[in-house]
Amino acid sequence: MKIQSLFLMAIFSLAYTQLLNGQSLSGCQTRCGNVSIDYPFGTSQGCYYDGDNSFKLTCNETNKLIFGGNEVINITHSGELRVLVTRSYVCYNSQGNQTGRSNRWTRLGNLTFSDKNRFTAVGCNTYAFLNTNEVGNYSVGCMSTCNTPRETNGTCSGGGCCQTSLPRRINYFRVRPYSFSNHTSVHSFNPCSYAFLVEDGLFNFRSSEDLMNLRNITRFPVVLDWSIGKHSCQQVGSANICGWNSECSNSVRGTGYICKCKEGFDGNPYLSNEKGCQGTSEPNRKSK
Ligand SMILES: *[C@@H]1O[C@H](CO)[C@@H](O)[C@H](O)[C@H]1NC(C)=O
Ligand SMILES: *[C@@H]1O[C@H](CO)[C@@H](O)[C@H](O)[C@H]1NC(C)=O
Ligand SMILES: *[C@@H]1O[C@H](CO)[C@@H](O)[C@H](O)[C@H]1NC(C)=O
Ligand SMILES: *[C@@H]1O[C@H](CO)[C@@H](O)[C@H](O)[C@H]1NC(C)=O
Ligand SMILES: *[C@@H]1O[C@H](CO)[C@@H](O)[C@H](O)[C@H]1NC(C)=O
Ligand SMILES: *[C@@H]1O[C@H](CO)[C@@H](O)[C@H](O)[C@H]1NC(C)=O
Ligand SMILES: *[C@@H]1O[C@H](CO)[C@@H](O)[C@H](O)[C@H]1NC(C)=O
Ligand SMILES: *[C@@H]1O[C@H](CO)[C@@H](O)[C@H](O)[C@H]1NC(C)=O
Repeated sequence: MKIQSLFLMAIFSLAYTQLLNGQSLSGCQTRCGNVSIDYPFGTSQGCYYDGDNSFKLTCNETNKLIFGGNEVINITHSGELRVLVTRSYVCYNSQGNQTGRSNRWTRLGNLTFSDKNRFTAVGCNTYAFLNTNEVGNYSVGCMSTCNTPRETNGTCSGGGCCQTSLPRRINYFRVRPYSFSNHTSVHSFNPCSYAFLVEDGLFNFRSSEDLMNLRNITRFPVVLDWSIGKHSCQQVGSANICGWNSECSNSVRGTGYICKCKEGFDGNPYLSNEKGCQGTSEPNRKSK
């Protein structure tokens, strides 16, 4: 009796999720430019996870996928989204008058910055702050001074570049670079101070070029963390949205969960259809 009703319930819930996902995914945009868009992300109502509007992305008229004003370059099932974020700068002329400034800020909704990012400042007369709205409104910063550009080996540690790490869970930041004495003593090789976030390992500092104009790079790849809901796997129990052959896993950022295909399966762990987790070794392998 008990086994029978469990069995019926299992059949019912499988049929139900299949129907639900089948419906919600037909007609959904799966690509924007070069980036593929996978559930729980989507570009229109019914195509993204409707428990959280942060999963709604926009594919603009130039075929760029946009999240929070920034271009998306990659989405992983394991809870990461990569975006290009514009750097901040302040520039001076040789008399020491400011000729340009841009302080960038970004708001992320329910996504947060990964601890894989580094806050970076470039300049020889430079200090920079990153302000957040996390509990306490704290700031982090770093400073860099030098008299001449010292050749570096691609690493950002001295010689006109400084980096510092950030904690997880920040979902808003503003980046502001400053100069100690308006770059007058270093203007010939370093007229500007730059500050930005960048994924660890993806900025190879080249002092002579970067101090002059940052090689004209205006945007850097930044990793964001995403997860489903605000509760752990234990708290949501069987009400998680994980699909076939997939299991719940608590998010590294300490809020919500992500889904993972079980070992030997591959696909989108949030779906229960042909795009969901499929057996990789034996084609017709069934979930335990
Ligand atoms: C897609 O990638 C190709 C090759 O990297 C590039 O030339 C093209 O501009 C990209 N398209 C979009 C819309 O970003
Ligand atoms: C964040 O998620 C909650 C539900 O967990 C939702 O109510 C809220 O609207 C989401 N915030 C944004 C900006 O989408
Ligand atoms: C994201 O990047 C990884 C490796 O960096 C790549 O294998 C994957 O195809 C990319 N995904 C998308 C949607 O571009
Ligand atoms: C620099 O700024 C000062 C006052 O802010 C101004 O008097 C001077 O004309 C400026 N010099 C140049 C070269 O722009
Ligand atoms: C952060 O600062 C803003 C304005 O200065 C204030 O409105 C807000 O309440 C502060 N938030 C926290 C968490 O302290
Ligand atoms: C640069 O790196 C190479 C090998 O990684 C090393 O042999 C060399 O000493 C380094 N030069 C400087 C200036 O650090
Ligand atoms: C440049 O900085 C110095 C030192 O902070 C200051 O005395 C000077 O007035 C500044 N010059 C301009 C043009 O802002
Ligand atoms: C950077 O841009 C300037 C002006 O647009 C240009 O003259 C220069 O060649 C560019 N440098 C590089 C390395 O692309």
